[in-house]
Amino acid sequence: MSGYLDRIGAGKVLVNREPFSFDWTPEQLVGRDSELTELASLFTHVENHNSSCRAVITGPVGSGKTVLTRRFGHDLLNHLEGKRKVTLAHVNCRNHPSTSQVLQRIALTLDSGHPERGLSSGEMIQSIRRNLISHNCHLLLILDEVDLLIRRDNSDLIYKLLRIDEGQEKQGSLSLILVSQDPMLLKLFEPAIISRLGASNILKMSPYDKKGLTDIARQRADIACRNGSVSEEVLEKIGVMAAESGDARLAIELLDSSIRRAESSGRGEVLIEDIEQSSARVAAIEPSQVDGLTKDQKLIMLGLCRRLKKEAEINTGDAEKLYKIVCEEYEVKTRSYTTFWKHLKFLESQGLIETRSGKSNVGRGRTQYITMNNVAPANLANRIEKELQR
Ligand SMILES: Nc1ncnc2c1ncn2[C@@H]1O[C@H](COP(=O)(O)OP(=O)(O)O)[C@@H](O)[C@H]1O
Ligand SMILES: [Mg+2]
Repeated sequence: MSGYLDRIGAGKVLVNREPFSFDWTPEQLVGRDSELTELASLFTHVENHNSSCRAVITGPVGSGKTVLTRRFGHDLLNHLEGKRKVTLAHVNCRNHPSTSQVLQRIALTLDSGHPERGLSSGEMIQSIRRNLISHNCHLLLILDEVDLLIRRDNSDLIYKLLRIDEGQEKQGSLSLILVSQDPMLLKLFEPAIISRLGASNILKMSPYDKKGLTDIARQRADIACRNGSVSEEVLEKIGVMAAESGDARLAIELLDSSIRRAESSGRGEVLIEDIEQSSARVAAIEPSQVDGLTKDQKLIMLGLCRRLKKEAEINTGDAEKLYKIVCEEYEVKTRSYTTFWKHLKFLESQGLIETRSGKSNVGRGRTQYITMNNVAPANLANRIEKELQR
C-alpha cells in the first residue's frame, strides 16, 4: 500500500520545480553577456568609496530586465566583497507604486527597525542615508517598473534620491538602476534629472529571437527535468512559438505547462502536441485573469496554486483542505462544499484549471483530480497574494 507514496518527489519528467518559480534567478544568464558587460561599464567606479553609479534599463516585457538586474546585483556584491560593503534593494514599483511605499521597502531592506511614522520623504531619505553611513554601507537601489511610480507620484523621489549626498561631506551613499518597459522613460523626467542620470547611461534590451528563447528554455529544462525527457525538437518548437512576442516568460511558461501536460498523461517525455495544446491556452490565459475573480474564488485558487507549484495534480479533497487553510490565514469564513464545488467548475470554465476523474488512492471510489496546465501556479499564487494583501 505504500506505493501511493511513489508520487512524492518523483515527477516523470520534472526532478526540480525550483527553476519554474517566478523569482528564480539562474546562475548564468543566457545570451546576455554584452548587456551585462555594458551594465558593468556603467559601474566601473563603484569600487571607489565616494562614487555613485547610475543606469537606466529599458526593454519590452520578458526581455530579461528584472533578471539582468538581479544577476548583476548579486554578482556585483560578490565582486566587491572585502572592497566595499554594498546592500541590495530591489523594489518593484508595480507592487509598491507610491513614494512612501518605495521608501518603506528600502528602510525594511536596511533593517533600520520600524521606520518612524509621519516623516516626510526628504526626512526618510536622510534617515536612510544616516543608516547607510553608520554601517559604512553603499546602497544599490533597483527601482523596477519605475514608470508606475512616476506616473502615480511624479519624479520627485528620483530627484531627491539623486541628490541624496548634495551639500554633504560624505559622498557615494547610493547607486541607482531604473528599469522600465517604456522606451520613452526619459521623457517623463525634467532636464535636471536627465542630466544627473546621465543621458548616455541607458541600456536598451531587445526582445529575444527564436534561438535566444530556445536556449533559455533549454537552460531551464536541463536544470529542472530528467535527462532526455525534453527533446531538442520540443525546445525549438517552444522557441518558435515564443518568438512571436520575444518574451522569455512565455517560453518558460510553455515549457512548464507542457511538462505538466506530459506528466498528467503519465508520460516521461514531453511531446510536440503538449506544447501545441498548451500554447493556445497559455496565450489565452493572462495571469491578470485572476484579478477579476471573487474573493472566494481567489482563496480557492491560492490553495490550488500553492500545492500545484510542487505537484502535478491535486485531488478535490485536498483542494478543499487547502482552501480552508487559506481562509484561516486570511480570516475569511469558509463556504460550503457545494459552493466550493461550484467555484471549481467556474474556474474550470475559465480555463484556469482542468479536472479529470480518476481512481482514488484511498478507498474505492473515484475522485476528481485538478491540474493547472495553462498558467504557472507560482506566478498566480504570487499575484493573488499581493491582491489579497491590499
Ligand atoms: N537571458 C536569460 N537567461 C535565463 N533566463 C532568462 C533570461 N532572460 C529572461 N529570463 C527569464 O525569463 C523570465 C522573464 O524575464 P524578466 O527578467 O522577468 O523580464 P522583464 O523584467 O524584462 O519583463 C524570467 O523568468 C527570467 O528568469
Ligand atoms: Mg520585470
